[in-house]
Amino acid sequence: MINTILWKNNTVVLIDQNALPIAEKYVVCKSYKEVIFAIKNLTVRGAPAIGVAASMATALGALHLPSLSPKEFRKAFFAICEEIAKSRPTARNLFWALERMKEVISRTKPASQSNLVQELINEAKCICLEDIEINRQMGKNGSPLFADGDNILTHCNAGALATAGYGTALGVIRAARDEGKKLHVYVDETRPVLQGARLTTWELKKEKIPFTLITDNMAGFLMSQGKIDKIIVGADRIAANGDTANKIGTYSLAVLARAHRIPFYIAAPLSTIDVSLKTGEVIPIEERKSEEVTNFKGVRSAPAGTKVYNPAFDITPAKYITAIITEKGILTKPYSISIFRMHKGEKRL
Ligand code: MRU
Repeated sequence: MINTILWKNNTVVLIDQNALPIAEKYVVCKSYKEVIFAIKNLTVRGAPAIGVAASMATALGALHLPSLSPKEFRKAFFAICEEIAKSRPTARNLFWALERMKEVISRTKPASQSNLVQELINEAKCICLEDIEINRQMGKNGSPLFADGDNILTHCNAGALATAGYGTALGVIRAARDEGKKLHVYVDETRPVLQGARLTTWELKKEKIPFTLITDNMAGFLMSQGKIDKIIVGADRIAANGDTANKIGTYSLAVLARAHRIPFYIAAPLSTIDVSLKTGEVIPIEERKSEEVTNFKGVRSAPAGTKVYNPAFDITPAKYITAIITEKGILTKPYSISIFRMHKGEKRL
């Protein structure tokens, strides 16, 4: 079991995802500002992991506030949440986690500030544990979609590292393997930050799941050769109609999958679904620094001054998605209806 995020002795301990796969080391954050820095520089990344880290950051922030009146405490806590909200714009789980932490303040009538801080720490730990359970459930729900002998393509890293543990898309693959299915995974390297080459391969190797690394531009050719049976990826935000934001390159895969009649699955917890957004067009897309594209490991690979466009995510229209695997079941088209029903808590999706 990989521990991605841990609350330990009033610090937040994160596996350093920038150091992987070369070194397995941990970063200890003593303040909420250090967690914000870790989210921004991708020490911790992946939508559910960002959500868990953000919830722990709010608890750290609250812990270090001076003694305040309840009103002042609330104001200061909400200001900390605002600051954390600015760390990365696309992952819905970040905002979902902040809302959940704010609810603790609204619903609790604490005897003292220290009691309230303890409530916040408990909630953040609970979000972390729940995330692992949710992923396991998603794994059970999604596993029947995969057959013995399948060759599966995945993009970016939607594994234990991108969550509190177990993973979303990789969680489904883990669950299917644990049920005895022999699977092989093609891993897109995932330019420009190489989450596939560095992180997904590292996880699959640890899990002893057979895999082959390819560059992103090879995926279409492999599909045309009949080498890929199914595709599964995670999500950063899903709109009310099923349009899905995920790592840049996901959209191209989905279109290629349609052209080759290959099932294209998304695995994501309900906390990734943003019913306040009607379509994917309004999902905010993060743009990251140009050096991610012009440099490789600190060495320039493009002429100085090269103009760059570097969106970190793209939107896959719902029509290209075969099904969305969640902890409450499998959503199918039309997603505006299945998501609406699920949001209302209806059993039949
Ligand atoms: O920029 P990143 O590495 O945070 O992007 C991560 C992804 O796009 C993942 O596919 C997504 O968050 C789902 S992770 C379970």
